[in-house]
Order: sequence, then C-alpha cells, then structure tokens
Amino acid sequence: MTTGHPELVAAIASEIAVSGPIPFVRFMELALYHPQFGYYTRSPETGTERIGWTGDFYTSPDVHPTLGYALARQATQIDRLLGQPDPFTVVEMGPGKGLLATHFLSACRTESRSLFERLRYILIDRSPAMRESQRRHLSQWLSRPGLVSWVDDLDDLAPGSVTGMFLSNELLDAFPTHRIQVTGGRVEELWVDRQDGQFVECLKPPSTVALAQHAHSLAAHWPDGYRTEINLNALDWIRQVARILRRGVVLTIDYGHTAEDLYRSDRKNGTFLCYFKQSAHEDPFTHVGEQDMTAHVDFSSLATAGEEHGLQVTGFTNQMSFLMGLGVEQLIASLEPESPEFRAAIHLLKPTGMGGTFKVLVQHKGIEQPQLDGLKFKPFFVEALARVESHVCKS
Ligand SMILES: C[S@@+](CC[C@H](N)C(=O)[O-])C[C@H]1O[C@@H](n2cnc3c(N)ncnc32)[C@H](O)[C@@H]1O
Repeated sequence: MTTGHPELVAAIASEIAVSGPIPFVRFMELALYHPQFGYYTRSPETGTERIGWTGDFYTSPDVHPTLGYALARQATQIDRLLGQPDPFTVVEMGPGKGLLATHFLSACRTESRSLFERLRYILIDRSPAMRESQRRHLSQWLSRPGLVSWVDDLDDLAPGSVTGMFLSNELLDAFPTHRIQVTGGRVEELWVDRQDGQFVECLKPPSTVALAQHAHSLAAHWPDGYRTEINLNALDWIRQVARILRRGVVLTIDYGHTAEDLYRSDRKNGTFLCYFKQSAHEDPFTHVGEQDMTAHVDFSSLATAGEEHGLQVTGFTNQMSFLMGLGVEQLIASLEPESPEFRAAIHLLKPTGMGGTFKVLVQHKGIEQPQLDGLKFKPFFVEALARVESHVCKS
C-alpha cells in the first residue's frame, strides 16, 4: 500500500496523471530529490536525521573517524606523487552530514602540515538540507578562507580545473537507477503507474536507447524473471569527473561489485533496497519520501566509462584491505581493547560486514601508474573488472 510524505505522493501522482506511467528511475529521482519534498531535499523533522544512529541508516563516518584518517594518509601520498601542487584540491561529492570531511581535515592537519596548508576542500551535495548540515559540522574549518567551500554542481567546475582527488562515499548507490526485468528472453524496464490510489509497477520496453544498449551489453545467461538495476547516472558522472580532473585520482567507495558478480544469474532480484529507521526492505511504494533507496554499484562499467574518458584504473579493493593498507592497525593498537571505540573501528573492517561489502575503486589521470598504500592488499585482480562478454538476451 502506498504511504509516504503526502505532498510528495501527490506530486508524483500528478506527474503520472498528466504523462502516464513513469520509468522507475524517474520515480526514484522524485522520491529522493524532488526539489521541495524529496527525501534528501527536505529538512528532516525536528529531532530526527536522515543519516546516523537515529536516522534511517548509518554510514562509515558515523561509525568511526578511521576512514577519514586513512583517506588523509592516502591523500598525502597522492600529493607527493603529484609533486605537491598548490592548491591540492579534494572534491567530495555527496558528503551527507560532512563527517568524512571533518575527519579528513583533522587527520590531514596532523598527518601533513604542508598538504593542509595547500588544501582546498570542495563539497558538492544536491540536497540543500544536507548542505546546511555540512555547514554545521564543518563550522570550525570555515575561518580559514578558501580551505572549505561549496559548489552547487559539477557543472560549476571547469574542465581540467582540478589537481588532486575526487572523493565519494555512498554517493553512487543513492543515484536514481533504472530497473529492468527479463521476460520471455527480452529486457523490459520497470515503470511506475497509479491504480486505485496506489503506485504500482508495470513492465514496458526500455525508455531509452542507451538503457537498451547497456542492458544488451551486460546480459549474460539471465533467467526469466531476472531483475536487476542499471545506473546510467553513475556513468555520466564518471565521464564528467574525468573531464574536470587535470591530474590526480578518483576514489569511489560504495556498496558494489564487479559486473560479473553483480549480474550473475543467481542474483535474481537485483540489489535494490529501501532503508527506513535502520531496517532494509524492498518496497519503494511505502514511506515514499520518508526512506532512502539504494542499489549496488557496477564498478566494471564505472571503470570502463572512466577509461573511455582518460581515467586509468589504479586498483580495486574492499574497505578492509584499503584501511589495512593505510596502517589502520596502528590506530587500532592504540585503542583500549574491547572499548566502544575499539569495537567501532573493528566494525569498519569486518570482512563479512562493512569491510567486505564496501568496495574502493581508484582511478587516475595525468600521473604514471601510482602505487598507492590503500591498494597494497588487493583481494581482486583488476582484470576482474572486465565486463561480462557473452550476450544472450535480445532487448
Ligand atoms: C547515502 S548519502 C551518503 C552521505 C555521506 N557520503 C556519508 O557517507 O555519510 C548520499 C548523499 O549524496 C547526495 N547526492 C546524491 N546525488 C547527488 C548528486 N548528483 N550530486 C551531489 N550530491 C548528491 C545526497 O544528497 C546525500 O547527501
């Protein structure tokens, strides 16, 4: 049954009444980012938050500052490899509450004074409510002019204008995604219609040629009824990032898989999930505008799209290996065993939890194949990112 934020439900219903069924990707765009009523756009009700222990889900920076510390170490090494440019720019996209940025800045100040003095940290978040939250969490860093700034959109950064690092944590899994289903050997798309006052799914041909082509390039032995997601917005994003980066790395941390793993035939229901008050479920039509929606990232397609636009793959690993490569065990060794802080830091490393589920893709441009500490331990060969070759479905 449809439930959710009343004005948002009405706005989506009215779009469907005017134009007919909408592709699921459009429904997700409106549910999360409707300019007035979207889940991320609106300020949360007083006393609640979207991200964090009292919110709908938590992310690594909520657990412990380790990730920000490790990223500051990684940035210090990248800075050396780039010849200590002035400024060294970090662009963090989708920073949420801005916790990762605060952890990064604190660690950078102690890790490398030289980098800290040349650092320019740019945040980009499409949600006005999240930008407000970032300003609150980052207030102590705002007194030094030029250290922390915001731009509205990637379009505000000129091509070739960034030397340094693009950084994101759980950005791409929050991008609106297309959802598809195989029926009678054909790829169809999930659309959203309205019947008897409820949102309902329907299957129709792919809404764009790009979607049909991408699905066709992936389809490998998918059985009838197979459902999955295709995140074309993530591919547009990496192409744009590749244009803006002059020299440096793109570091993308997210739930995700290689294409071979994400699109394997026994993963029949895809990875789409909604998060409401710390519990996950699969129904996008309840709590519309009051819950997060996500889908895992296809890192192979991201790597391929980057390569086509001048970004080379530096390496692909998981969060546990990334943190271990950057010496997180030294930090953990300094904590009281079994203290809450110790347990929190370990939580980020667990191979069966956040340490294994989160992957880290590093891509570079304008530097010779860098050997990065975060990629010292690689549980995957880079070749694992190669896209699935066989095409058996007709779209
Ligand atoms: C799942 S939250 C992750 C927040 C944060 N990185 C963390 O780890 O806690 C996703 C964030 O990405 C932002 N976002 C989504 N699409 C975006 C886009 N196209 N440009 C900038 N920010 C975006 C959302 O507003 C939200 O703040």
